Amino acid sequence: MSHVYEAPNWRDYKMNWYDPHREAEPLAAEIAVVDAGLALLVQAGILPHGQYDHAKLLAHRAAVRERFEIPWTAISHRMQRLIYAINAIAQPQVMVAVGIFCGNTYISNAGAAIGPGAVYQAQRLVGLEIRPAEADRARRNVAAMEGSAGVAEVLGEDGLAWLRGYQGTIDLLYLDADGPRGSAKSIYLDLLQAGLPALRPGSLVLAHNSVNSARSMANYLAYVRDSARFRASANMIVDDQGLEVSRY
Ligand SMILES: C[S@@+](CC[C@H](N)C(=O)[O-])C[C@H]1O[C@@H](n2cnc3c(N)ncnc32)[C@H](O)[C@@H]1O
Repeated sequence: MSHVYEAPNWRDYKMNWYDPHREAEPLAAEIAVVDAGLALLVQAGILPHGQYDHAKLLAHRAAVRERFEIPWTAISHRMQRLIYAINAIAQPQVMVAVGIFCGNTYISNAGAAIGPGAVYQAQRLVGLEIRPAEADRARRNVAAMEGSAGVAEVLGEDGLAWLRGYQGTIDLLYLDADGPRGSAKSIYLDLLQAGLPALRPGSLVLAHNSVNSARSMANYLAYVRDSARFRASANMIVDDQGLEVSRY
């Protein structure tokens, strides 16, 4: 079953990719948008409930602002809150994020388990970034979060090859890799299919850019929105990037 959550004013909500810590709207407005999105995810049967610790999210946000080197990011405060909340609620033991660039998207997921926003203990939090220099930067960033040792792994590897060789279970898979030059997010379906054997019933798959890259992700979106393959999927239009949240 496929669902859509569309924040009423998402077209007017603008962040600066080069100044991502600046507030784009009052906190109460950000919370209201994400709460309404979480309510849709609960209604769709994708999440069990919509509650998470708001103070922990702000502690996480402050730590990222103070400790991370981020050259640019398209992760808005709304998106950071949504991704953090999904992880805080679902509490994945094994989280795998592919295409993590400098690590900001990775920590939006992993920040529910490491650093000052931690609300549970995870087993393994894997980040994959194909460009070695960016993987090194992401590793340095992530190491600044308490509790990361022994749980967080940032690997300078091709996520596709890694997923194809992975033998364990994945409770939450986050996709954000752009494919070879010009193909934008068309790599998502290949990544999903490589990771499929690792998913268990109830695993979540999050895919960034469901709005601005909807065209290059069309085959991926058709796949996760097919109720014969995924139990439910929701397009979360909280900003002009969007996040497709799917429950296996
Ligand atoms: C556009 S960035 C994601 C940025 C993120 N949305 C943000 O706003 O912070 C995508 C990243 O995926 C990486 N990438 C591309 N193909 C990959 C692959 N096969 N495995 C792992 N990483 C990959 C790229 O090097 C790039 O750093």
